[in-house]
Amino acid sequence: MKERLHQIRREATTLIEEAEDEESLESLRIKYLGRKGELTTILKGVGTLPPEERPQVGKLANQFKKEIEEAIKAKKKALLGTRPLRKEGWVDLTLPGRNLPLGRLHPITQVMREIIECFTKMGFSVATGPEIELDFFNFEALNIPPEHPARDMQDTFYISKETLLRTHTSPIQIRTMTGARPPLRIIAPGKVYRCDSDVTHTPMFHQVEGLLVDRGVSFAQLKGILTAFAQAIFHRDTRLRFRPSFFPFTEPSAEVDIECVICKGAGCRVCSDTGWIEVLGCGLVHPQVFRNVGYDTEEFSGFAFGLGVERITMLKYGINDLRLFFENDIRFLGQF
Ligand code: PHE
Repeated sequence: MKERLHQIRREATTLIEEAEDEESLESLRIKYLGRKGELTTILKGVGTLPPEERPQVGKLANQFKKEIEEAIKAKKKALLGTRPLRKEGWVDLTLPGRNLPLGRLHPITQVMREIIECFTKMGFSVATGPEIELDFFNFEALNIPPEHPARDMQDTFYISKETLLRTHTSPIQIRTMTGARPPLRIIAPGKVYRCDSDVTHTPMFHQVEGLLVDRGVSFAQLKGILTAFAQAIFHRDTRLRFRPSFFPFTEPSAEVDIECVICKGAGCRVCSDTGWIEVLGCGLVHPQVFRNVGYDTEEFSGFAFGLGVERITMLKYGINDLRLFFENDIRFLGQF
């Protein structure tokens, strides 16, 4: 019987050592240690042996049982380390998830939305108009007749004699006024196009137009609104500079500069050493424009402004190259 026990141990140890997966280990455990296993059967039969053999056989069988249990445990552990990470048709739920990079809003879009929010809080509502525009809305009704030298201020992309890519958002002033009666307060954000391309100009850029028409509107109110706007977008004590200017559709007209935030007014490349950067044009609505849309110039007055979104974004974030907005380099865009 002792011989048989030694044989079982030898055989079991080799087979366990050779086992290649957990299933074969389990069947070995059943073969030797299961309820009807070879070793179990011997242990169960110890009582039927001649009395002098019992202690020795029992001791040996129990010792080998332990050894085989240990061997199976050790082999199981070893197999765990070598188990292939991926098996056909398996999913490893313990792997960390893959990060999908999230997109961001373009800085121009972000600032555009910020500008819109600033004005809607002041009671303006948002109006829109087509990018392919009629000459009538883009020029004529804004008091810029054909052959008027002011047309040279904006190099126009013409589509036909009558249609063009809008050169500013001001045509939305006309579209809004022809469709409604005062009082009205709108802003009109959008893309505009000019046949112009160099370091500081791109053929497409963004503007936000503003128009307010009511009784007794003054230039002081325009200054107040624009100052509130600039201080909301930039800094509580951002300084503005109003310079007399000319637009055919406003009278009087002004251009507004903001203190250069890059050099804080000391002078740098971005502000061409002036310390100021022009960000918008504005003025009181020209009486001729009101007549063109059938408003009574005795009863109503109003102001309008048009601001450049790229300029404002550059100032807000200290960006010194306009072209960065159009190159779509995600290393740049990801910073906002
Ligand atoms: N439309 C003008 C431009 O693009 C800006 C402007 C808008 C000026 C409204 C006065 C009033 O330059």
